[in-house]
Amino acid sequence: MQLITTISDIREQVAKARQQHQRIALVPTMGNLHEGHLTLVREARRHADVVVASIFVNPTQFGPNEDYDRYPRTLESDRQQLADSGCDLLFAPSAQEIYPNGLENLTRVHVPAVSEGLCAGSRPSHFDGVASVVSILFHSVWPDVALFGKKDYQQLGVIRKMVRDLHMPIEIVGVDTVRDNSGLALSSRNGYLSSEEHQQAALIRQRLSDIALNIRDSGDIERALTEGRQQLERDGFTLDYLECRDIHLTPVTSETQAVVVLVAVWLGTTRLIDNIEVTLNTAVA
Ligand code: PAF
Repeated sequence: MQLITTISDIREQVAKARQQHQRIALVPTMGNLHEGHLTLVREARRHADVVVASIFVNPTQFGPNEDYDRYPRTLESDRQQLADSGCDLLFAPSAQEIYPNGLENLTRVHVPAVSEGLCAGSRPSHFDGVASVVSILFHSVWPDVALFGKKDYQQLGVIRKMVRDLHMPIEIVGVDTVRDNSGLALSSRNGYLSSEEHQQAALIRQRLSDIALNIRDSGDIERALTEGRQQLERDGFTLDYLECRDIHLTPVTSETQAVVVLVAVWLGTTRLIDNIEVTLNTAVA
């Protein structure tokens, strides 16, 4: 696996592959890789001949009081894991390479509607930062296909809409969340949890499954959410949000056939997100 740090070099490598009519996949990451990322890399191999992973801790998607400075940077072990998972090219640019003119007055990509509410409630500029950096990564690599985890469900929705609205000829593949044995969704931020917090965090998945069952049986989304919020608070979580949307992240209507329940909670100083998709049995009450 080759390590590449400049946009011109990654463009050159991708152009060579394209000349040989090879299909290119991109897996964008911020590093500190876990099995969830490596699953994306292995899945990418099923969609393309050349797999590119990027590692870039993007400053513009962190709020002023968030964990940009303490976000784990583990390039050496990430590099090894990517090589072992069959990645061909690792694109790991510096902030200077991606933002040579600094962050002030930077052109930003805003994806309306889907970037509002849910995580944006407590992270107002987060999705503008994500959409902007992903479009820079797309313009640097120009993959045929790009893969993202479904744990970041709203992020996936933002990227799907950006690609559609801007006519980017890139297929977006959402990949199921990878969980540990306790059911906790894998996340780089799980590393911040103490072992007690880790045990408690495993309840998030259980509560989401209970809410999903409740919605499927009763069709009464509001009641299921109210009970779910109360339960999560009894479990000791500080709730950021627990909400339900249709699977395209638009509001649920009488036509909706499948929904997603999305949650964000605080456990100490760590914010965790997860979600569950539910196919409705009965019409929404
Ligand atoms: O999901 C992530 O790790 C990041 O938000 C992404 C998509 C790599 C953009 O920085």
